[in-house]
Amino acid sequence: MRGWLLPVLGAAIVIALPRLHSLSTHTQPNTSGGVSLVTRSTTERKSSTDLEIAGDLAGSPEGNVRYIARQDLLSLPQVSFRVGNDPNFSVPTEVSGVLLQNLVHDLAASPANDLVVAICADNYRGYYPVAYLTEHLPVLVLSVNGLPPERWPKDPERHGLEMGPYLITHQDFKPAFKILAHEDEPQIPWGVTRLEFRNEKQVLAVIAPPASEASDPKVQQGFRIAQQNCLRCHNLNDVGGKKAGRPWPILSAWAAASPDYFAAYVRNPKSKNPHAEMYPNPSYDDATLQALIAYFRTFSAQETR
Ligand code: HEC
Repeated sequence: MRGWLLPVLGAAIVIALPRLHSLSTHTQPNTSGGVSLVTRSTTERKSSTDLEIAGDLAGSPEGNVRYIARQDLLSLPQVSFRVGNDPNFSVPTEVSGVLLQNLVHDLAASPANDLVVAICADNYRGYYPVAYLTEHLPVLVLSVNGLPPERWPKDPERHGLEMGPYLITHQDFKPAFKILAHEDEPQIPWGVTRLEFRNEKQVLAVIAPPASEASDPKVQQGFRIAQQNCLRCHNLNDVGGKKAGRPWPILSAWAAASPDYFAAYVRNPKSKNPHAEMYPNPSYDDATLQALIAYFRTFSAQETR
């Protein structure tokens, strides 16, 4: 219905806007006029569109959960652009929102060391390490085509799900690394309700292979791939998404006891389970799957840890 208007609108606005990269260099922390965002946040949710924040929050004891009103996020410097290379949007779409990097500066206790975890209503999690934040400039989206979350398009997989209250996207994502057949992938969660700021080293230490295995390059490659891919839906303790309901030790058990099943599942889940909801990874070749198996095996009870 609205399709015809968007390309026209999008083209006009893109021309009128400076590039995101140049904008970001001018956006400073605590840009909300002196009163920090943490100060303005509340200890109780006031609206379903409040953004929940937790983790290492500046000026707030660890373990505290706080809420920021959408209006307060709208009062921060906004970046606007037409989304490129984001499969969540099938037609050209204009978005505006706040650079995740700026939120780290405003909210995190230790901006240089903290990664961002975006947690979704369905327990999917997007992880944004410091290098990703600076390389890809992800944006927490507040408006889509100028509209608030209740008027956003529904989820791209046509389950009729809300894409709000928040989603994350990029102006134009370009892969920054490749490990075997795994190419740097955009982290583009929707249905985001909560952001956590966590010490990056501590988070990665939880899913690091044991020291006795860490020198194996295959294990390290698998570790890097798992950090960006599997961690979104699979967890080890409180690190990683819980959407899959199958934590690291279960994946490890499959990798150790039945590597063929593990590899087939990762490449094409429906080949093993017709009801699978996990996304397929058709581009993963044998070397990539072997690296993942080598890494996940290290978490099995049979291995010494
Ligand atoms: C988008 C979410 C998502 C991501 C990312 C994801 N998985 Fe899954 N995975 C699931 C879900 C959900 C299941 C449960 C069964 C199903 O619906 O497919 C599952 C099941 C599995 C199973 C089968 C376990 C069993 O008990 O039968 C394996 C093996 C697996 N995942 C491995 C991986 C690996 C390895 C990665 C990273 C390369 C990964 N998954 C990334 C969502 C995901």
